[in-house]
Amino acid sequence: MALYLITGIGGFIGSSLARELLRRGEQVRGVDNFATGRRDNLEPHPRLQLIEDTIVHPRVVSGLFGDFRPDVVIHTAASYKDRDAWQADALTNCVGSANVARACKDHKVGRLIYFQTALCYGTKPLEQPITLNHPLNPVNSSYAISKTAGENYIQLSGVDWVTFRLANIVGPRNVSGPLPIFFERLSQGKRCFVTDPRRHCWLGSTRP
Ligand SMILES: NC(=O)c1ccc[n+]([C@@H]2O[C@H](COP(=O)([O-])OP(=O)(O)OC[C@H]3O[C@@H](n4cnc5c(N)ncnc54)[C@H](O)[C@@H]3O)[C@@H](O)[C@H]2O)c1
Repeated sequence: MALYLITGIGGFIGSSLARELLRRGEQVRGVDNFATGRRDNLEPHPRLQLIEDTIVHPRVVSGLFGDFRPDVVIHTAASYKDRDAWQADALTNCVGSANVARACKDHKVGRLIYFQTALCYGTKPLEQPITLNHPLNPVNSSYAISKTAGENYIQLSGVDWVTFRLANIVGPRNVSGPLPIFFERLSQGKRCFVTDPRRHCWLGSTRP
């Protein structure tokens, strides 16, 4: 049985990963401040420990590691809900990610998994599909700027890391992206439209 620490465990991706890991018999500890996540995204489980707190404080983050010693850290916590809340984005996505990366380094974690946004390439990528040679250009959103700074700290940690530069993920408990937007528009009697972008890539120190 491996030990997994998940930040943002109350969110869409964090709770989906936790459910799958528990189904496989792993031990899971998670942290969430429930800024966008929900407590009822996860049912209580004997191998699940949920801590309500913020990754913005280094003391909180190092406390998550001390007595648990995770084999793998999955960092999904992110701030994005108000595009004008630059400070909130910088604190969670940049400072919080630096705290997580630093703790992974200090505690010699074996694997660090980061969930990045494809907006790190800018809203108008130079090529489709995007390849790893595409320059980073997260200039037009606080979310993208701070998430990219966070990714740099993940890399700086020297831990065996991987980042998934995702576009639009869909599934149960999804609260952002196209499906919630379509739902809201349809509920208001508005039309929906789609474009045809294709974006996918991964980047890591060893393998995906
Ligand atoms: N869903 C997508 O389409 C998509 C696309 C690209 C990248 N991502 C990335 O994937 C990750 C997960 O996204 P999601 O869709 O599950 O979002 P989500 O909002 O459902 O989950 C994020 C979780 O982080 C928590 N959180 C926020 N600030 C925190 C803090 N300071 N301390 C502790 N917890 C905090 C939130 O409460 C929430 O539960 C994010 O890092 C996001 O940037 C998601």
